[in-house]
Amino acid sequence: MRVLLMGPPGAGKGTQAKRLAEKFDMVHLSSGDILRAERGSGSQLGRELKSYMDAGELVPDEIVVKIMANAIASQPADKGLLLDGFPRTVPQADALARQLSELARPLEMVLVIDTPDELLVERITGRRSCSECGQVFHVQHLPPAEDGRCDACGAKLAQRADDTESVVRERLSAYRAQTAPVIEHYTSAGTPPVATIDGSGQPDEVTALAAEALASAGPDA
Ligand code: AP5
Repeated sequence: MRVLLMGPPGAGKGTQAKRLAEKFDMVHLSSGDILRAERGSGSQLGRELKSYMDAGELVPDEIVVKIMANAIASQPADKGLLLDGFPRTVPQADALARQLSELARPLEMVLVIDTPDELLVERITGRRSCSECGQVFHVQHLPPAEDGRCDACGAKLAQRADDTESVVRERLSAYRAQTAPVIEHYTSAGTPPVATIDGSGQPDEVTALAAEALASAGPDA
């Protein structure tokens, strides 16, 4: 199945996407991870991305749409797709709909992780990510077995450059102004169906809610 995972920064999209992609045999495409990889490559485009991402602003639509269109086009057609972080504006949603329609692989569900604002800043500022494999931890809620080291590959854990409290507040206002309208866009269109789950529980509880929503979405699930 093809699913779009949405929610504010720190809602738990990346954490849940990895679990759901494995459980439902979907390719997980995170626009944030793809943009960070480009940024880390030291390319001219990467330097341009840094200025937007470090400020907590959205990268311009024309750049993101091109990068994500290439990423989507290179995925095998017989696998499911789990989009995380893209689309994030209504013009991005329109561009995605055109591409998926041409590929005859339309989205089948939008899953929104609804997490209260008061939990978001604390989750993001406590996040630590693996510099090698991208595994995500939290200093309190999901601590690694060995302090500062990834459980999966043993590499060093680091804090993202945009995970400071002031940048998180900018990211939250970008979410409210530019991304929340994308949920309204899908809700008013009625297709694909939009399901909303409570993201405030423990990670395993949220996974159970998300898996239930996906399983009820179609026979392929
Ligand atoms: P992106 O990487 O997409 O960041 P985001 O949307 O702000 O989301 P996060 O990755 O911060 O949060 P998450 O919901 O994945 O939470 P996670 O699971 O890690 O985007 C970064 C930047 O890239 C943007 O600001 C923008 O500049 C640019 N960008 C990306 N896509 C773009 C687009 N389409 N257009 C334009 N620009 C774009 O969890 C967070 C923490 O909480 C972790 O430590 C985790 O362990 C912990 N946690 C998770 N779930 C729980 C739980 N249930 N209980 C307790 N702790 C939990």
